[in-house]
Amino acid sequence: MGQLEDILASAPERVGSALTIDDLDKLEVELVGRRSYITEQRRALGSLDPAERPRVGAQLNEAATSLAGLIETRRAALEREAEDRLLADDRVDMTLARRTLRQGTAHLVTQTIDEISDIFTAIGYRIADGPEAETAWHNFDALNTPWWHPSRLESDTMYLDYGDPGDEILLRTQTSTVQARTMEAQPPPVHIIAPGRCYRTDTFDATHSPVFHQFEGLAVAEDISFGDLKGTLAHFAREYFGPARRIKLIPHFFPFTEPSAEMHVSCFSCDGSGCRVCSRTGWLELLGCGMVDPNVFEAVGYDPDVVSGFAFGGGIERVAMVRHGITDIRHLFDNDIRVNEQFV
Ligand code: DAH
Repeated sequence: MGQLEDILASAPERVGSALTIDDLDKLEVELVGRRSYITEQRRALGSLDPAERPRVGAQLNEAATSLAGLIETRRAALEREAEDRLLADDRVDMTLARRTLRQGTAHLVTQTIDEISDIFTAIGYRIADGPEAETAWHNFDALNTPWWHPSRLESDTMYLDYGDPGDEILLRTQTSTVQARTMEAQPPPVHIIAPGRCYRTDTFDATHSPVFHQFEGLAVAEDISFGDLKGTLAHFAREYFGPARRIKLIPHFFPFTEPSAEMHVSCFSCDGSGCRVCSRTGWLELLGCGMVDPNVFEAVGYDPDVVSGFAFGGGIERVAMVRHGITDIRHLFDNDIRVNEQFV
């Protein structure tokens, strides 16, 4: 039985150093398999002296059980290791900072266009537009601005094509063109708001840009009064600048309205007492307006004896700059993300 003791003595070390399931399988065959020493001895029990058989048999059983136990324990350990390795390989590092996609926003000019459009569509206006490359007819003649008017000079307006008088093609200098186009295209009543891009030969400075945006309003029906104009603009001022705003209308001149006025809004920063935002006047000059001139109605084929209306027009950049305290219009065209990010 010396061999059995050797086997039992060396088994823990040998089983412990099996590094793979494969190694362990081979060792199992060798130690307790069909041709192992222990199995052979068990088979040979029959040839032993019957008196010896129970003791030797018991010894062999005990040895087999203990070896099987060793192997089983080792197998479980190896399997656990393999699983741990798999899990470790699969591990996702949840602490890794994710790559963020920076969320963009609409440009302030776009936001302002949307906001003004919303204010007017909410009271029944529809959004209208017209081309940026326009005829001199729609930009000037139809708007009671005859050929001799200084705003038609090349120093003021960018011409694309010279044709017969009135047929010149130019980059529109104002969204008032949409007044003429809309009235030509439909009978009264008309209630439109027309935001859009305009062009003038101005050089870039803090308050001028050769490309800028305006919004134009037009309301035409029977019996529209100056009071309607004032109420509508006061509504706009309160929606855009806050409910406490007052407005005043200062006489002015525009070719296509009579009478014409400039609308001023009480300063939202000092409420009219005078501060830096309003240059101590308490008021902010905002837009031009007036009652549609009968000559305009005639030019587009409306009867000035039947309909009346008001119009107004202002700069998109202008109102946005006033409201947000932007002192240089170039900030709105420079494409500097640090400016744009402030208006989310
Ligand atoms: N189109 C004018 C401008 O560019 C602004 C304006 C003034 C529009 C009076 C109007 C208006 O509709 O009635 O300066």
